[in-house]
Amino acid sequence: MSTPIFAQSFYKIASPNGQIALQVIQAPDRSIKYQVTLNNKEVIALSGVGISLKKPQAELRKFQILQIDSTVHSSSWKPVWGEVKEIQNQYKELSFQLKENAILLKLIFRVFNDGIAFRYFFPEQENFKHFIVDNEWSTFNMSGDHTAFWIPGDYDSNEYTYQKTKISEIDATTAASKEKDIAVTSLIGKNYVQTPLMMKSAEGVYINLHEAALINYPAMQLKVSGTEFTSTLVPDAVGNKAYLQTPFNTPWRTVIISNKAEQILSSKTILNLNEPSKIQDSTWIKPQKFMGIWWEMQIGKANWSLAGGKHGANTENVKKYIDFASKHGFQGVLVEGWNKGWEDWLGNWKEEVFDFVSPYPDYEIDSLTKYAKSKGLKLIMHHETAGSVTNYERRMDSAFQYMVSKEMDLVKTGFVGKIIPRGEHHDSQWMVNHYNRVAEKAASLKVMVDSHESVHPTGLHRTYPNWMAAEAARGSEFNNAPSLGINPEHSTILPFTRLMGGPMDYSPGLFHMSLNQFDSLRTTKVRSTLAKQLALYVTIYSPIQMAADLPENYEKYLDAFQFIKEVPVDWDDSKVLLAEPGEFVTIARKEKGKETWFIGSITSSIARNMSFDLDFLDNDKIYEATLYMDAETADFEKNPEAYLIEKRLVTAKSKMNFRLQRGGGCAVILKKVN
Ligand code: NOJ
Ligand code: CA
Repeated sequence: MSTPIFAQSFYKIASPNGQIALQVIQAPDRSIKYQVTLNNKEVIALSGVGISLKKPQAELRKFQILQIDSTVHSSSWKPVWGEVKEIQNQYKELSFQLKENAILLKLIFRVFNDGIAFRYFFPEQENFKHFIVDNEWSTFNMSGDHTAFWIPGDYDSNEYTYQKTKISEIDATTAASKEKDIAVTSLIGKNYVQTPLMMKSAEGVYINLHEAALINYPAMQLKVSGTEFTSTLVPDAVGNKAYLQTPFNTPWRTVIISNKAEQILSSKTILNLNEPSKIQDSTWIKPQKFMGIWWEMQIGKANWSLAGGKHGANTENVKKYIDFASKHGFQGVLVEGWNKGWEDWLGNWKEEVFDFVSPYPDYEIDSLTKYAKSKGLKLIMHHETAGSVTNYERRMDSAFQYMVSKEMDLVKTGFVGKIIPRGEHHDSQWMVNHYNRVAEKAASLKVMVDSHESVHPTGLHRTYPNWMAAEAARGSEFNNAPSLGINPEHSTILPFTRLMGGPMDYSPGLFHMSLNQFDSLRTTKVRSTLAKQLALYVTIYSPIQMAADLPENYEKYLDAFQFIKEVPVDWDDSKVLLAEPGEFVTIARKEKGKETWFIGSITSSIARNMSFDLDFLDNDKIYEATLYMDAETADFEKNPEAYLIEKRLVTAKSKMNFRLQRGGGCAVILKKVN
């Protein structure tokens, strides 16, 4: 007679809508395993949990169960800004009080309508106060060899091109060997990937693995073996993972599940797993669109540094941007290269490069502040740390005081390069704490933050709504990178991966696709049509959006630029209409406090016809739809700038149809007609 292996004890809870079920089992060897089903079909096969400690040395992988509790939760909350005006939070919780090696801990599971999450909690206890984590053994055992959308596991960079392979075909080393343009990388190995990791099963089930509420802990990356993923934590400079004291909660490990791709993109589970806002008065937090002295450095028209005679951040040039941005209704102008230090910022790994308070002599900051104010907008601060983070921590207070004294309230931070001086990794506990400290420090001075080269977001913008966005993935700057650039698939994968954790400062809006405009040696091209660049303002959600191109390039296409002028950055509602990772994304959003809808629709390198109902519009009303679409001859390789603007009258009963050309897109404004 064969006895089932996992017969000892068995606990089960289902999601509020009953579709997702979680079973937790204690095996005879005292290990604990969980399994997840969607509509009674296995999505996560029995998978393990556990943590090993380096100090005190202890394996917490087999347990004595002391107590089991379960609760039901239902509430709603209103984000300070977001894709929707109200968010429902409904789940069932099952928690286990555990003991092993005389250490008490808790394992907490939550089951939502669109997924599950779990975390470990170490309560205060008599003989266990400080500890060092060696590794975490959370596993995610996939029920099949799914198609996966992934980037290589790397302790220092998430700016990779996404790969689409079967889980069994993941080869991070080969993928990474083709990347030549990432400043600093620390590849883990062939079988490692980063989260958010998106998968699709042969049966059409979509599964996303990530984490929520990454606080005082290293980022989780995943080791793959067969079709099973195991957590691996980013180490510090001497190989330790996390220095902790009780009471301590790890981040949540999240599995978002649906048989509809669109529902993955509508999930609010990661946000729901984060703590409510710590900012009492949030009236100063302002979603906004901005322009900036940025792309002209990327394409070689200007330099960040003063040396060389092409300094971009000079008073006259900044005024030109202020004039253009103000004329077209933007709220800010970012100025990179405003401060002393750029002659020596990258590659020498010096600790003292920038002090964040010393403008170059040709940048008249006071007169520009006044000028910007007279034109109804603000300058946006830039703090490139060049990886010298101890230097930034030391100077952060004066740096923020300085920018506030110049009436600036939004800072773009950057972490290009090796983390100096100790060689911490970008995604380690120490750096995670640094990014969070920046958000807290900024909040205390009413400053909004846009971080580049920071760790993958995990929904912390709920807790720190002044942390508006992060780059933390391959952003538009890579359009300019010679090796792989940005392929047309990238923007259709981002919503399923990077954006699961939070808004991205992607910097869309490029109108001039050949990048040899100022430097004839540049052979790279933006691999997107112009209409797709417009649609990205809707498909890539962020409360801050840049119009990245140069004023002179916008002057050539002012009728298309009108869409960027009108598209909002804060929404009352969002409907994901059609989506498939690596193929297409179509999202409709309703402007905050208004009746106007905006649609963004994008495709990969495949041209396709899109067709969908407009049943989200108000009944019995007529809307004028303005479509900014690919011209018939548009093609991201051969004719990227060809677009058409077309007007149609539609109602809630209409079908919307349009064609997306190769690498193309369509952006639509739907206004009620009186
Ligand atoms: C990398 C950032 O992503 C980019 O936006 C910035 O211009 C450069 N670093 C220089 O700080
Ligand atoms: Ca970057």
